[in-house]
Amino acid sequence: MSPKLSSNEFTLMKKYIEEKCGISLGEEKAYLIESRLSRLLISSGLSSFSEFYSKIIKQDDKHMTEKIIDAITTNETSWFRDKIPWIILEEVLLPKYINQIRNGEKSKIRIWCAACSTGQEPYSIIMCIDHFLNKNGIKDITLDDFEILATDISSTVLQIAKMGRYDSISIMRGLDQTYKNKYFESQGRVWLIDEKIKNAVRFKAFNLQNSFLLLGKFDIVFCRYVMIYFSKEFKEEIVRKIAYALEDEGLLFIGSSELLNNKDDYFEKNYYQNSPYYRKR
Ligand SMILES: C[S@@+](CC[C@H](N)C(=O)[O-])C[C@H]1O[C@@H](n2cnc3c(N)ncnc32)[C@H](O)[C@@H]1O
Repeated sequence: MSPKLSSNEFTLMKKYIEEKCGISLGEEKAYLIESRLSRLLISSGLSSFSEFYSKIIKQDDKHMTEKIIDAITTNETSWFRDKIPWIILEEVLLPKYINQIRNGEKSKIRIWCAACSTGQEPYSIIMCIDHFLNKNGIKDITLDDFEILATDISSTVLQIAKMGRYDSISIMRGLDQTYKNKYFESQGRVWLIDEKIKNAVRFKAFNLQNSFLLLGKFDIVFCRYVMIYFSKEFKEEIVRKIAYALEDEGLLFIGSSELLNNKDDYFEKNYYQNSPYYRKR
């Protein structure tokens, strides 16, 4: 029988999880801890969450912390998620950036995917750029003029992202036939992303609780569908840190259903085809 989580154990585990990755679980989410962590607990030879908590606190085992984070994070993602960022990228930003590179105003365009999960988001960015350059017959600007940093706290999702290998279900989610034919090759039931696209993204483990200073400055930050899991205070901290990590007039994309409290302090809300995106003040 799988172990049950008492109210006291919930409080301890909730605090531990929030300290390690910022994910803030309300009591209605206790079942997530119970269902996602019981297997780890049992495979550690333990029978209760109290024992599990004592063990993880006593041993401060990095490997176990990683496993807990892997189990507790939600890695839901898809290709070209929400239509609007890609339309803005193609119709507004790429023409502008290409001009800026051509006239020497910028040497490289830096884009950060701050919670990239299994890679669909950063690879969608690179495919979008490559497709735009090809479609417009642009030869003097290449993928080397763009730097895409993709980070996530979970080492498991990063491993999948770095391999660029997708099963027949994940390949279907949001990817249209043109992109699939152009950028993927099937190997049995697995789809492999084109090497050129894969090599254009740099993946790195990064916890959004850390300082962003060493990452440098970006023209765009995609921080989508991750802040929904955090407390109000942590969301506000991230919005502030992203604003400092952006170049003047840099842009922030969040998920279409996400709401942020303090964004108006740092960002001006712009609209494109009635959908909002955020420009650094
Ligand atoms: C739901 S996915 C979103 C993926 C992608 N941005 C998208 O919109 O399709 C959320 C990702 O945030 C990551 N994550 C959760 N907490 C994090 C933290 N503290 N630092 C960095 N990444 C985190 C998870 O591992 C997960 O892969």
